[in-house]
Amino acid sequence: MRILIIGSGGREDAIAHSLAQEQTEQTQPVHQLHAAPGNPGIGRVATLHTVNINDPQAVTALAQSIKADLVVVGPEAPLVAGVADAVRAAGIACFGPSAQAAQLEGSKAFAKDVMAAAGVPTARAVVATDRQQAEQALAEFHPPYVVKNDGLAAGKGVVVTDQLDQALAHAQACLDAGAKLVIEEYLDGPEISLFCITDGTTVLPLAPAQDFKRALDGDQGPNTGGMGAYSPLPWAPADLTDQVMETVARPTVAEMAKRGTPFQGVLYCGLALTSRGLRVVEFNARFGDPETQVVLPRLKTPLAEVLLAAAQGRLNQVGQLEWSSQAAVTVVVAAQGYPGTPVTGRPVTGVERAEQRQNVSVLHAGTALCGDGELVSAGGRVLNVVGMGKDLAAARTRAYVGVSLISLEGSHHRTDIAQRASELCPLECQKRSSQQLSA
Ligand code: AMP
Ligand code: GLY
Repeated sequence: MRILIIGSGGREDAIAHSLAQEQTEQTQPVHQLHAAPGNPGIGRVATLHTVNINDPQAVTALAQSIKADLVVVGPEAPLVAGVADAVRAAGIACFGPSAQAAQLEGSKAFAKDVMAAAGVPTARAVVATDRQQAEQALAEFHPPYVVKNDGLAAGKGVVVTDQLDQALAHAQACLDAGAKLVIEEYLDGPEISLFCITDGTTVLPLAPAQDFKRALDGDQGPNTGGMGAYSPLPWAPADLTDQVMETVARPTVAEMAKRGTPFQGVLYCGLALTSRGLRVVEFNARFGDPETQVVLPRLKTPLAEVLLAAAQGRLNQVGQLEWSSQAAVTVVVAAQGYPGTPVTGRPVTGVERAEQRQNVSVLHAGTALCGDGELVSAGGRVLNVVGMGKDLAAARTRAYVGVSLISLEGSHHRTDIAQRASELCPLECQKRSSQQLSA
């Protein structure tokens, strides 16, 4: 199959590498891969093209020129801009929701409306469009206050704070930027990410993962796009996926179909396991980054088959997905300054040495090649080092060995990714989690 991947991060590199590993019995690659714009990691397995990925016509023209059988859209911005609509209108299969369906991520107020209609459990929320409404809404909730920019904000739209003045300051900043606000109840308890592949009718869950959003160890510091992730979750209740499918994913997909805007692609369910049960923290309309980097290496069913079936509305033909029993841990190596303005253009070395280690792979997230072929940093999250192993402890050790072999001046990473989960006794944790869920 000829597949065009849209995007340039670690998530897209994970997708590209999963697709590249699908081989015939004669060990020939099954797919011809293209990516736009891609990155040097993706460039190892795909032909790279320069295009404005938020321009639906430009992406469609590229897909036509390379005679793509399937386009896979990684990030949210092209989806919200209507890239999937344009590609599909040209008769090319596209994995990713329409602009209207992508509003599940593009507008938090829209997502709340869909959840209310579908009876999906989520935090109680109030929409505010001016200062007075924001003040009134904040008075209705107790600290910690949760103030969200309604629209896409590249991971910087949400402030969770005990301080009313900080909550108001964020509200004002969003209003000044012309955005609506969603102010909502605080959700306690651990967060998990569950990606559900859907063709608009059938829904297939992937394995759950956990992301680490804060910049510093011990969940301190500012929110980021994600500093690491692991899968599986040995501490989670055994029926977690079933619960999410029944109470969140299927009702949401059904509600979108009922509205005449079926959601096709991956419904990212960001969930909190609170003391009062499962609640949706957010929906995204695409794979999570960096969770994808630990979920896809564990998927044994060929990914291309799943994505194409979803794009062609025949996901019911795929059957149950098969998973490796191996665990995966990824650690993000971030540039100096991230999640603020990152320092870019610094040499990155040691990637090959890390990859020579067994069960270690390095996915590129924010890298570029200089004219002389030298690898340099080109974004906030620079590399995702992935370790695989028989359990989380083994996977984590490998990921950190990989990280230790990489050099990037001023870079930082968390040292506690998957630490607690790898130390916990699964049975004890399962008991605790089910008590939490049934309380
Ligand atoms: P979002 O962009 O909605 O995913 O929010 C980013 C992060 O803010 C989430 O992953 C949570 O860690 C935190 N967050 C969002 N909503 C809430 C909430 N209602 N209660 C507690 N934390 C939240
Ligand atoms: N890892 C969080 C996200 O992809 O939004």
